[in-house]
Amino acid sequence: MDYISVAVDGPAGAGKSSVSKAAAKDMGFTYIDTGAMYRAAALFAIENGIDIKNNRKNLVSRLDEIKIDIKYEDDGQHVFLCGTDVSEHIRREDVSVGASDVATIPEVREKLVQLQRNMAKSANVIMDGRDICEHVLPDAQVKIFLTASVESRAKRRYDELKDKGLSCDIEKIKSDMLYRDKNDSTREVSPLRQANDAVLLDTTELSFYEAVEKVKELIRNVL
Ligand code: DC
Repeated sequence: MDYISVAVDGPAGAGKSSVSKAAAKDMGFTYIDTGAMYRAAALFAIENGIDIKNNRKNLVSRLDEIKIDIKYEDDGQHVFLCGTDVSEHIRREDVSVGASDVATIPEVREKLVQLQRNMAKSANVIMDGRDICEHVLPDAQVKIFLTASVESRAKRRYDELKDKGLSCDIEKIKSDMLYRDKNDSTREVSPLRQANDAVLLDTTELSFYEAVEKVKELIRNVL
């Protein structure tokens, strides 16, 4: 049986995950958050005191120890690092920045891309990340580049953290986002960019509902 793959790329905080997750739920697809895998690799480095920026060789030499498993429970995707559910821990701000650094290491990418491709072989999927359209699933039937202005991305993240009762500084969120945007789009391997055959979906002026509907419409067109 041939499965449908929907590839969604875009910068940090554009709403890729929440929009993809909601569209996947409505359409009966499996949602795969690939950023969570890079985050788990970053958490491994942080927990093991590995300086990702200055000692990437150390991380590469321990690649076999980084055991990442993805499992699906009622509330969605859960990420396990060496047998421990780290789905919450990987959302920390230091892990966000670390993930962007880890993602510049080719050996880490190779390992995670393999895992991602295997997952898309056995289900209809919506997979989001930075390199999905061009590299992970180049044959995906639907390709989307989902973005929004940095101001609105930072504001959404700020509101999200505030709703959770966490203290945060919008300027710091914005500068972290700009750091990650630059890192993700200028790295040598699989940089973030809009694929030629991807549909541009700018959510700056769209409501969450409108963005989800747009993604569903693009999927329905290929069913
Ligand atoms: O989507 P996210 O913010 O959870 O991703 C965390 C980091 O991982 C992001 O800064 C870039 C990297 N990433 C990547 O390089 N390729 C992917 N397919 C997914 C994420």
